[in-house]
Amino acid sequence: MQTTTTHIDTSCLMKSRPDPCALVIFGASGDLTARMLFPALAKLYGLGAMPERFAIVGVSRTPLDDESFRKRMRQSLEEAGIFDAAAWEVLASRLFYVVLDYGEQEGYLRLRDTLAGLDERLNLGGRRLFYLATPPQLFEPVAEGLGLSGLAGKRSRDSGTRLVVEKPFGRDLQSARHLADTLHEWFDESRIFRIDHYLAKETTQNILLFRFANAVFEPVWNRHYIDYVSITSAESLGVEHRAGFYEQSGVIRDMFQNHMMQLLALVAMEPAPSFVADMVRDEKVKVYRSLRPFDPGRLSQDLALGQYGPGTADGQPVQGYRQEQGVDPQSATPTFAMIRAFIDNTRWQDVPFYLCSGKRLPRKLMRMVIQFKTVPHSMFRNVLGDSVSSNRLILDVHPDQAISMSFQVKRPGGKLCLRTTALRFNFTENESEPSLDAYEKVLLDCMLGDGMLFPRQDAVEWSWRYFTPILELCEACSDPGGLVKPYPAGSWGPPEAPAIHPGFAGDVG
Ligand code: BG6
Repeated sequence: MQTTTTHIDTSCLMKSRPDPCALVIFGASGDLTARMLFPALAKLYGLGAMPERFAIVGVSRTPLDDESFRKRMRQSLEEAGIFDAAAWEVLASRLFYVVLDYGEQEGYLRLRDTLAGLDERLNLGGRRLFYLATPPQLFEPVAEGLGLSGLAGKRSRDSGTRLVVEKPFGRDLQSARHLADTLHEWFDESRIFRIDHYLAKETTQNILLFRFANAVFEPVWNRHYIDYVSITSAESLGVEHRAGFYEQSGVIRDMFQNHMMQLLALVAMEPAPSFVADMVRDEKVKVYRSLRPFDPGRLSQDLALGQYGPGTADGQPVQGYRQEQGVDPQSATPTFAMIRAFIDNTRWQDVPFYLCSGKRLPRKLMRMVIQFKTVPHSMFRNVLGDSVSSNRLILDVHPDQAISMSFQVKRPGGKLCLRTTALRFNFTENESEPSLDAYEKVLLDCMLGDGMLFPRQDAVEWSWRYFTPILELCEACSDPGGLVKPYPAGSWGPPEAPAIHPGFAGDVG
């Protein structure tokens, strides 16, 4: 029998191994910890990417002890299909649990004692990563509890204490500022890691490399050559079990203020002087500052909002958004939006950026299309008429992880005929390097203290600023079917969408 050994190349896995630390997960009895965080930590451990010495401390209100917490975490690995008995021996011995009522100081003092004991026993150097996997209303009380108990550490840059928060970062500009003010009381901005899992996807990280490490694209990446840019994040899933959250949020807060804006910045930003977190983040903020303010007077050209009605998903009949459990039967919450945005700077003047995201669309698709202009003069016009297509670059993030560039070639034969063909690069082909999924990557970067993939507060605020007029329109919209148009589940959004972006069907086709 022939056996083959696959050599796994890990030279690109991480720039260095993180320093010893305690990872403290608030909300440890919840879904996020079991489905995402703990499996990601276990996978990092399997890859040798966890610190040499570490402890994982689960914290939540649910009365558990170390043993019952370990049992839950073991089950999460089994369910994820990644349970490894040998690795579990070690992981289990590093798992601890503290019961804590988020608003009561006593629990934080207990946590402080536990962490001090672990520091001493495991020689963790006092480094701590506090991950808030809690509902957003607990971010401020927890930060305050950590601060008052002395657990927030020094507020200076060299503190070994970091705070990790997940979106939403407020629900508008004012609440985002309030949240930041509270966090900044106890944690310096450089110690706060705001997670946007879209930035940690391998293919989105690739955008900057693709643009700025290749000489051929950058010279044409501007208004002289590009006709439009479209960024689509479509989902076939509906609101699932998150109606309570989604009714308050809608697609603008859920997808645009964060994920879509981050993708926009990657496609539109200028090169930073150097690949250093703050320099890159400065360039992203400049994109947001250059966004042409949304003009409610141009609604029909710049914005289409929709809400899914009954229809189909994966061939099966599904109910509409208003029939979902926990949704107001008169709800005007948008589950779909298409926005035409402009960036007022020299590179992008008058190039439309079409941003589209929605639930219950025909399929899961995350894609960026860079549509180039047609050639300025076609010498083939007398033979081919106006049918010469223009080049199009497609950056696929999901389900494909690929880049393809279309161009025109001659078809064989005596008569001049063209066809469009494509050069295609598949991100995972010929790669023996293990890739990190989004949570593995963000957890590793938090432990390393690398803020590159984490939105800074100024970016969060500029983004809210841009969306404020749109959110105000949504909030003022009490008439179901007025501003927010119905679309059947399983379709590409309301009929108004193609009026905003006539090339939409081609982009997602
Ligand atoms: C989350 C949103 O941030 O992103 C969800 O809250 C959405 O509503 C999800 O479904 C999409 O993420 P992904 O990685 O599946 O595209």
